[in-house]
Amino acid sequence: MTKVTGETVRNDFNAINTVLHYTRAAHFIGLWKSELVLIEQYFPDKMARLLEAGCGAGRVAVGLWHQGYRDITAFDFASELVEQAVNLAQEQGITGLTFLQADATDPEMCNVLRYTFDGVLFMFNGLMQIPGRENRRTAMRELHRVCRAGAHFIFTTHDREDPQDLKEWAKEAERWARGEQNPRLHEFGDRYFTDENGNTFMHLPDRKEILEDMAATGWSHVRDATRNELASETPKVRNFSDNCRFWVARKD
Ligand SMILES: C[S@@+](CC[C@H](N)C(=O)[O-])C[C@H]1O[C@@H](n2cnc3c(N)ncnc32)[C@H](O)[C@@H]1O
Repeated sequence: MTKVTGETVRNDFNAINTVLHYTRAAHFIGLWKSELVLIEQYFPDKMARLLEAGCGAGRVAVGLWHQGYRDITAFDFASELVEQAVNLAQEQGITGLTFLQADATDPEMCNVLRYTFDGVLFMFNGLMQIPGRENRRTAMRELHRVCRAGAHFIFTTHDREDPQDLKEWAKEAERWARGEQNPRLHEFGDRYFTDENGNTFMHLPDRKEILEDMAATGWSHVRDATRNELASETPKVRNFSDNCRFWVARKD
């Protein structure tokens, strides 16, 4: 059986159920309090040139526009989601947001971007939906390349070391040791599952891995905190998505 590839993930995000799920989130859930707390802390200037990777249907970019951010370029590799983001901005009479279709792992990505950014966001675990550690590192390097020195990078992951899940991961480690893991997975920590919102590929990293990946791609660790530590989210947000860990890195 073939491994999950970037193309598998792109097709999964272009599937109708998944498009509906993220479009609803963009229309009815909007920016999380935790996202706003961190973004305002690391980007106090509302004119900061921000790049949002994996923007989906525009939940974060549109939310930030309403918070006064005026220079946001957002991209996603799933064309159906980019179309939804463009529609949402149009519906709300927003003309200053730029939405593009691009792949964060594509070395040509920077050719479609107009300038050097003051910061980059990859929210709601999008970076961890890139299959293969080397590919995630490529994306981190590319995002580093399009930023100025001193720029911050904020992204989120699920926490493989969450005490609640340790037993499940111990069982999964045994499956890997016996070679009985799902053959579509690349690395320990990967999950590929199907629910009412479609297929989801997700890598769950441990702390050491993220710190190594930052160091290998030119980013310095600034801070990390769980969503619950940053803010108390509304039930709507909590029903939509589990707790996650926010990471803040800096380009030296
Ligand atoms: C969990 S969704 C989050 C969408 C949106 N940021 C939100 O919070 O509603 C992750 C997004 O990352 C995008 N994505 C995953 N891999 C990508 C890649 N290599 N390049 C660009 N976008 C990617 C997916 O298409 C998807 O829209």
